[in-house]
Amino acid sequence: MERLQKVIANSGYTSRRKAEELISQGKVQVNGKIITELGTKVSSSDYIVVNGHLIKNSPKEYYLLNKPRGYLSTTTDDKNRKTIIDLIKTTSRIYPVGRLDYDTTGAIILTNDGELTNLLIHPKNNIEKVYIAKIKGLLTKDQANKLRNGVYFDNYKSAKAKVKIKKYNKKTDTSLVELTIHEGKNHQVKKMFEAVNHEVIKLHREKVSFLEVKNLKSGEYRILTPKEVKKLYFEATKKN
Ligand code: URA
Repeated sequence: MERLQKVIANSGYTSRRKAEELISQGKVQVNGKIITELGTKVSSSDYIVVNGHLIKNSPKEYYLLNKPRGYLSTTTDDKNRKTIIDLIKTTSRIYPVGRLDYDTTGAIILTNDGELTNLLIHPKNNIEKVYIAKIKGLLTKDQANKLRNGVYFDNYKSAKAKVKIKKYNKKTDTSLVELTIHEGKNHQVKKMFEAVNHEVIKLHREKVSFLEVKNLKSGEYRILTPKEVKKLYFEATKKN
């Protein structure tokens, strides 16, 4: 049994706070009866309707995938390209938490838990994402500091970031740079490097929060443990 507002938020229909408002306003029915009591517990067999919409209370699934290059991180594609959903064996309607570009590899969570998804993607919740970027040229100390303090792209200034220069290859004139950010703007890492005049040649996400993909081969995934799911909720709701 779970609290009604949690089940509504989990379905992805709205946030937990909005769900509470809707319950108080008498917009939620359980098995045909209007419920205004916030703590009401419901089970997966209960029939929940919010504002005329049926809410699916299906069991939650959580996966960590090491995304391969050449896959979209959407649920469908109008050009019939491969999506990362094709890699996961499930009949549930899961979706990716945030996006990785078609050519980006690495850590991505997939789930049908709308509440956790909303918490993880909200920048104010400071979920760290660690990227390894192979870039053209040598990143100077000054450029690294600019990235640390925030750079401008698309009328936006990135928040403070962590930057570690891992390696410079003189022969190919390329560098490996570890960049840790907690935002998730479209093509953010590529745009941040572009703002300091470096092109990203390869991009890999090593880590989302505490979840790493180093033990997963490209295209491999694993189911998250209940303890990891709890920890993700903790990480996304703790005060920074
Ligand atoms: N930043 C990018 O530029 N691309 C990604 O796929 C993820 C972050």
